[in-house]
Amino acid sequence: MRDTFKLRCFTILCLTSFRTIAISLDSLTATQSLTNDQTLVSPGQVFELGFFDPGNSRWYLGIWYKNIPDKTVVWVANKDSPLSNSSGTFKIGDHGNIVVVDQAGSISWSSNQTQAVNPVVQLLDSGNLVVRETNENDPEKYLWQSFDYPTDTLLADMKLGWDLDTGFDRYITSWKSTEDPSTGDYSFKLDFRGFAEIFLWNKQTPIYRSGPWNGIRFSGVPEMEPLNGLNFNFVMDQHEVSYSFSIANASLISRLIVNATGNLQRFIWIESSQVWNLYWYAPKDQCDSYRECGPYGICDTDLSPVCSCMKGFAPKNLQAWNLRDGSDGCVRNTSLGCESDKFLQLKNMKLPETTTAFVDKTLSLKECKEMCLKNCSCTAYASYQINNGGQGCVTWSSELMDMRVYPEGGGQDLYVRLAASELDDGGSVSSGSGSDKLIMVIGITVGIVVLLLGLTICFVWKRNELQRIWKGKTEQKGLRERSQDLLLNEVVISSKKEYSGERNMDDLELPLLDFDTIATATDNFSDENKLGQGGFGCVYKGRLVEDQDIAVKRLSKNSGQGTEEFMNEVRLIARLQHINLVRLLGCCIEMDEKMLIYEYMENKSLDSILFNKEKCSLLNWPRRFNIICGIARGLLYLHQDSRFRIIHRDLKASNILLDAEMNPKISDFGMARIFGRDQVEANTRRVVGTYGYMSPEYAMDGLFSVKSDVFSFGVLVLEVISGKKNRGFYYANNELNLLGHAWKLWRGGNGLELIDSSLDDLYSASELMRCIQVGLLCVQERAEDRPTMSTVVLMLSSETATMPQPKQPGFCLGRNPAESSSSCSKQEESCTVNNVTVTMLDGR
Ligand SMILES: *[C@@H]1O[C@H](CO)[C@@H](O)[C@H](O)[C@H]1NC(C)=O
Ligand SMILES: *[C@@H]1O[C@H](CO)[C@@H](O)[C@H](O)[C@H]1NC(C)=O
Ligand SMILES: *[C@@H]1O[C@H](CO)[C@@H](O)[C@H](O)[C@H]1NC(C)=O
Ligand SMILES: *[C@@H]1O[C@H](CO)[C@@H](O)[C@H](O)[C@H]1NC(C)=O
Ligand SMILES: *[C@@H]1O[C@H](CO)[C@@H](O)[C@H](O)[C@H]1NC(C)=O
Ligand SMILES: *[C@@H]1O[C@H](CO)[C@@H](O)[C@H](O)[C@H]1NC(C)=O
Repeated sequence: MRDTFKLRCFTILCLTSFRTIAISLDSLTATQSLTNDQTLVSPGQVFELGFFDPGNSRWYLGIWYKNIPDKTVVWVANKDSPLSNSSGTFKIGDHGNIVVVDQAGSISWSSNQTQAVNPVVQLLDSGNLVVRETNENDPEKYLWQSFDYPTDTLLADMKLGWDLDTGFDRYITSWKSTEDPSTGDYSFKLDFRGFAEIFLWNKQTPIYRSGPWNGIRFSGVPEMEPLNGLNFNFVMDQHEVSYSFSIANASLISRLIVNATGNLQRFIWIESSQVWNLYWYAPKDQCDSYRECGPYGICDTDLSPVCSCMKGFAPKNLQAWNLRDGSDGCVRNTSLGCESDKFLQLKNMKLPETTTAFVDKTLSLKECKEMCLKNCSCTAYASYQINNGGQGCVTWSSELMDMRVYPEGGGQDLYVRLAASELDDGGSVSSGSGSDKLIMVIGITVGIVVLLLGLTICFVWKRNELQRIWKGKTEQKGLRERSQDLLLNEVVISSKKEYSGERNMDDLELPLLDFDTIATATDNFSDENKLGQGGFGCVYKGRLVEDQDIAVKRLSKNSGQGTEEFMNEVRLIARLQHINLVRLLGCCIEMDEKMLIYEYMENKSLDSILFNKEKCSLLNWPRRFNIICGIARGLLYLHQDSRFRIIHRDLKASNILLDAEMNPKISDFGMARIFGRDQVEANTRRVVGTYGYMSPEYAMDGLFSVKSDVFSFGVLVLEVISGKKNRGFYYANNELNLLGHAWKLWRGGNGLELIDSSLDDLYSASELMRCIQVGLLCVQERAEDRPTMSTVVLMLSSETATMPQPKQPGFCLGRNPAESSSSCSKQEESCTVNNVTVTMLDGR
């Protein structure tokens, strides 16, 4: 008893004496000092300040994360004047400066700020070390702060850039090496001239350019996207020009550094695996390299060689150019004529170097064009910011430098001045006159076609036949005017306006396009324009004269089932309007051709991204969650909220299309069925659908209901989460398909392991678990157990909704032996299961 007591006393004593060594204080006053074995800790235990040795046997005073085991130093005081011996002291010196003193008592580093009366130095939870007067009332008023003297790290809320009032510049500079914090060769520094942008320097030479801030991100960083809790800020006014990032959720830890070998790196701390995850870095590729392609050269990583001259320009030094040295750039083919010049539109561009550009925030793009046209020295113009549909005006009056082109969705439009003659050859890139020209060409083509048609008709011998054809044609024409339907009494489609509800029948028009228009738009259904193959035909990309991109689904002529499905799809989708359903813009019925014209989806189908190793990382968790919720809402609309009850019957990843923002749209209604409002289920002899997505009762007994769609939805959810196909899924145990695998993980309490390994760890675990649970509930064996879509939407959107525990999933047919890739002419495979013919329609 006594012994225990003694022991306890001893322990307490020990602890107390230990405490005095590592002062757990966050501040020092003029009378206190910090020695080698002591540290300051910020009030919330986030950062720690003390002496450290980075591995070069020198001692530095620095700040690091308190709770991150592998010491990550974010700031160093005496980086260029290290102590050779660990016995240093940190304190407030004679004039109120903070100083680092070596063992001999001489000052090796000083903050050099103005005089202080009664100073106190404090380490804040932001990682900022500040000096202020003890009795200062304004807590934000610092005599000195370490955030003004960054080393190689930019922390949240730390500004990179200029205080224009004081002429003070803050920038980050690399360490010499990972073991040596002294000033290295690389720095990341904001240039506030013209339209501000940030340059990465190697000593005196720029090596990379962020591009200017376009309102959302840097023009040269298309992948820069605020994620949950991480926001990017750019301030540009008469007092300051600065970039910073901020973190809304304290559990997120992120830092941006310029590393010793000249790369910018953003790291995010992953608590669960205790590692710094490299979230982003730059320069990334050849096109990031500063002025890679010289003046008027455009860099495109998809091309080889990467450099090309823009239209109207030719390589300046052809010899060097052919040896793939593009740095001399390009020169104009035709010199400018000033007022008569035109503008070439370049899409998805990283804006050229803007330090000499001129910004007018008030002008519209049209006024910008006028201003640029009037001033003969203006070489290009663009929108100043791209948010809210674009605003303001930037103009260049020098050579255009350091441009690159990004894939669809990155960059912005740039308009480059060219001599009018360079643009008069019916340029493919639109500028007002170019498309007029195109319209004319099409006009003539159509004229010729009509003429030929007339001639043909003259030679048609059978009068009756002639009359019949003629009648058909006139009807189609009249139809377009009378807004009525040709075959399907109430088909109603509109192309231009945005809407979210169903249309009122009375004010509808039916864009019925003729075959020639579509043939022209798709370049005669060329192979290059082929997007893929659907259940009943091929899909092509096209462009209408009005510059609208379209997707054309051309039903194959020899597909016996075509007509019915076509009618079905048109009838259905024309009346459905929902943000998560693909929009039908028009159709074409001419002789034996049947075509559907849809809005074009930039990102094609979900499966082309989700199951593609290179692309799947585009789908981060917030996007995947958005896709899941979007499909759920679209399906809910089909099942419940539209005028009819519609069963899609072929929901699968290849039937989900993604727009430029990765919003999902359900497509392919070729097999959908309309139910009466109170009809619950139906039976079909012809089971159509896709293996891996079919519910057991449908595949086995041909029974379909909203619940069979729910089943397919569940499969889709699990695929989106895991990035793996249900069909063709291999796991250690060959018999297990994705559903079985998900079920096994869920039962073992390891649900989170289902997530696609290509996803960074930035996901909300609760959101993810909810999705997995919903997915499993939807694929339950018994249709009665599965939730309806309205319940699904509720469960997905509410954190508090109570959810039942899922039961064993129903995953009927194992792997399908008749898997094959199909072509346009040979698109269907049949096999027999329980005497029900299963038509395979998995073309894409
Ligand atoms: C630092 O140097 C002083 C004087 O040279 C010496 O007395 C002291 O032991 C050294 N301290 C350490 C930790 O090496
Ligand atoms: C403080 O001033 C001294 C003397 O002018 C100078 O050597 C030192 O580099 C300055 N320190 C800082 C951190 O600017
Ligand atoms: C912060 O993030 C964590 C994990 O990502 C999450 O659990 C928590 O709810 C978030 N807090 C806020 C206020 O958003
Ligand atoms: C700097 O960053 C690049 C890109 O992430 C990386 O490849 C390189 O190894 C880093 N260098 C150092 C010294 O960490
Ligand atoms: C520019 O001129 C060069 C020859 O001078 C020619 O090869 C090139 O095709 C021209 N480019 C354009 C876009 O007219
Ligand atoms: C034309 O642009 C240049 C460069 O931006 C500018 O210096 C000049 O004043 C402008 N000229 C006119 C007439 O606006």
